[in-house]
Amino acid sequence: MPDPFTPTTQQPTSRGTHVACIMDGNGRWAKRRGLPRTAGHTAGEETLAEIVRAAAHRNIAYLTVFGFSTENWVRPPSEVRHILGLHRRLFGRIDELNANNVRVNWIGRPFDEPGARTPGPVQKAIRDAINDTKHNTGMVLTVAFDYGSRIEIARAAQRAQTKRPTKEINADTIAAELYAPELPPVDVLVRTSGETRISNFLLWQAASARVYFTDCSWPDFGATQLDEALALLTATR
Ligand code: IPE
Ligand code: IPE
Ligand code: MG
Repeated sequence: MPDPFTPTTQQPTSRGTHVACIMDGNGRWAKRRGLPRTAGHTAGEETLAEIVRAAAHRNIAYLTVFGFSTENWVRPPSEVRHILGLHRRLFGRIDELNANNVRVNWIGRPFDEPGARTPGPVQKAIRDAINDTKHNTGMVLTVAFDYGSRIEIARAAQRAQTKRPTKEINADTIAAELYAPELPPVDVLVRTSGETRISNFLLWQAASARVYFTDCSWPDFGATQLDEALALLTATR
């Protein structure tokens, strides 16, 4: 288990590059066009499908995206419903995912744990997508849904202590209890739409990530911006 606090002084090579995206600015994108916010979320889901393809073609090994946070449940119910429906659409893109050799993964509050709020149909879409893409050997697409980093880390520390009550808790024992311990450290964290917040996303995994902030809204994000973000990896320190 690599220690996520070790600075990445070298290029991410053998394990492959890990890109993470906070896909923000969808509602504002729609408002600027005189459309309802939900139209922006629909456009954002389509952008994600394109970025998955673009990332897979660039040999990115891991793409992790923030789909819905533990904080997002307080949004108006109609918007939440729409976003949940879009996750079913996203997880339902099995043919495309298989054509691009992409394996689906998910991080978030486990469905049976206190506080978890993922509705049954979304749970099923997540399980089916994971199962129907499990033989793919290319890029791993991890969707964070009902995800919050502080809850993830607190839970990991608690589990580490429960499993080995007499042992010391350290960075390795916590890392081993994260939702997806096999996820390597994030190399580049992207946030769109001009916001410069991390918003409780991958706080542990992105400890040594480069960060790419862009004014571009998520629905307008494309291969050009992805390449700009990747260029941070080759920039001199
Ligand atoms: C991010 O876009 C997507 C989700 C939170 C699901 P927003 O809905 O936050 O769009 P803005 O930031 O309000 O424009
Ligand atoms: C972050 O976007 C969460 C997702 C992209 C799913 P938000 O728009 O919810 O972020 P904050 O809370 O305003 O920073
Ligand atoms: Mg936002």
